[in-house]
Amino acid sequence: MDPIAHVQTAGGSYPVLCGDDAPALLAQLWDARWRQAALIGDSNTLPRFGPALAAALAPRCGEVLQLSFPAGEAHKTRATKQQLEDSLLAAGFERGACVVGVGGGIALDVAGFVASTLLRGVAHVNVATSLLAQVDAAIGGKTGVNTAQGKNLIGTFHQPRAVVIDCAALASLPAAELRNGLAEAVKHAVLADASLFAALEAWADARVGDAPLPRPLLARCVQIKAEVVSRDEREQAFRQVLNFGHTVAHAIEAASAHAVAHGAAVAIGMVVEARVAERLCGLPVADRERLQRLLAALGLPTAPPLPFAAARELLGHDKKTRAGVVHCALPERLGRMHEAAGRWTLPTPIELLAELWEPVR
Ligand code: GLY
Repeated sequence: MDPIAHVQTAGGSYPVLCGDDAPALLAQLWDARWRQAALIGDSNTLPRFGPALAAALAPRCGEVLQLSFPAGEAHKTRATKQQLEDSLLAAGFERGACVVGVGGGIALDVAGFVASTLLRGVAHVNVATSLLAQVDAAIGGKTGVNTAQGKNLIGTFHQPRAVVIDCAALASLPAAELRNGLAEAVKHAVLADASLFAALEAWADARVGDAPLPRPLLARCVQIKAEVVSRDEREQAFRQVLNFGHTVAHAIEAASAHAVAHGAAVAIGMVVEARVAERLCGLPVADRERLQRLLAALGLPTAPPLPFAAARELLGHDKKTRAGVVHCALPERLGRMHEAAGRWTLPTPIELLAELWEPVR
């Protein structure tokens, strides 16, 4: 099957494959030099997807290990990473091994982080089973874990050798999980493609129940993510556009002890940051209103569930903060992010975030 996108990196490029038969796709891309495989997922994803993937690899690979850790942001920790590493070392894994991350964003971030430091780095492949991972987390090589101070503050860039998008997995994805991924799909449209935004609006209006994102729209989201990463692999500047909504989102997630899921927090974050964009870089009010309408039509929240005071301190822990000043990546209209002198984020006064946290009545 032909890849739907390629990601260009300093070390070459890697394909993103998409289909209903993820085990066959994994077997198709498997490099015969990878003699050991470790399938790493969480306690939800690994039991579900691991056995079929392991069976597909068995004829191609001497040893296939399946390792899981408890599901949830609370387990995306250094302690989990250490346990996985200890298991791999105890099993005698060598440099020629390949780690296969299986699942959503959390599983892939942890598996990639393990791969990036095990024996100073082994190959890894991502098999993405949630929409959020498919349009975002699986692509681009960001790995990491959370700490008490915030999300993903410890981690690495370690590009996978390939990404498999398991479309069949979407059929049974819980509706809340589907919505989490839709928030990132909307984000991609805002930052790069006004016609994708219009297509999402049309789909949201015509949608029945929790129908999954149509494949052409999913593929366009994947291509946008691949294009952004290909242009700025290590987030020197341009890749920061992917952080639209995330400065606020990460603070909400941490302040709520992850009771607010990532996609929901991104939806809220995009609305708050869009209000900031109206003030700082001229985002038309009508564009912000369309964004808010689309998110609501997709069943996503658009208002912070906690007061500004609860998030204030955490906003400063964002990785884009410079000299103590919070920075946001902001759209200047649907389909285009603000850039000035090669910078893709704007210093954002904390007082402005406080003022715009809630809708202006
Ligand atoms: N999820 C944001 C990024 O990959 O840069």
